[in-house]
Amino acid sequence: MRVDLLAGAAAPLRTVITPVPTILVFDSGVGGLSVFAELIRVRPDARFVYAADDAGFPYGALAEDALVSRVVAVMERLIRRTAPDLVVVACNTASTLVLPHLRRHFPDLPFVGTVPAIKPAVAQSTSGLVSVLATPATVVRDYTHDLIRTYASGCRVTLVGSRRLAGIAEAELCGAPVPDAEVLAELAPCFVEADGARTDVVVLGCTHFPLLKARLEAVAPWPVAWVDPAPAIARRVVQLIGGPLAGHEGDGDDATAIFTSGAGITPALRRALGERGLPAIELDAMPMG
Ligand code: DGL
Repeated sequence: MRVDLLAGAAAPLRTVITPVPTILVFDSGVGGLSVFAELIRVRPDARFVYAADDAGFPYGALAEDALVSRVVAVMERLIRRTAPDLVVVACNTASTLVLPHLRRHFPDLPFVGTVPAIKPAVAQSTSGLVSVLATPATVVRDYTHDLIRTYASGCRVTLVGSRRLAGIAEAELCGAPVPDAEVLAELAPCFVEADGARTDVVVLGCTHFPLLKARLEAVAPWPVAWVDPAPAIARRVVQLIGGPLAGHEGDGDDATAIFTSGAGITPALRRALGERGLPAIELDAMPMG
């Protein structure tokens, strides 16, 4: 919650963060739930708004200009509506492109982004073969290539842009899982063998993918370490706004979900949301014109 303090008649307004902040978690769909689960663990006292721009899903298929203007427009409406103290952009496809635009448009609001965890993946790899599984848009971003240039020297990084996997995760949460063969077809290019070595670390570079982790593990050609950025994002949030104050631990049930399509959610999705820390969901449609 943001409050404006008037210290004296002539004093300027001063903005402070109260002990119970409002955190807006944003994604194109349900993928951001993989980040939300970590956030609610570290700030169970916070008021959460989970916003899915499902009317714009999948972001991975949008041209860069279209994505920038869409995310800025949706964010403008969300911020006006929810008055967050901090925004977590729980989407690699948006973060790797739109974060500078958001920070320019909303200079007083802290934004925490989600980008492919290439640095920790490289540190974890012993074979030197690391794969990044992301949306087709994230794997071509300059931001992603800069991360590889900066942090992956001496490693061979295979970029795999999956067109279907985010949609497969959406279907899974809606109670319509796809067969293993279809999951494997998206995952297989991550598994590389070269010069007697093989991929030992796969970066989950789309927030939808950790939701499928058990299925990815089950179909993977061999065991690998999967790198999910969510714990690091939660740590960054605590760095910025602190952990729960004593006496304000909360019970993790103050959460609202906004779906921009206004299409409502299936009973299976409602159950899945409940299992992931959103037991009380107020559907708040916000269709984009
Ligand atoms: N969850 C989003 C990400 O982390 C992408 C899904 C989409 O294509 O909309 O990249």
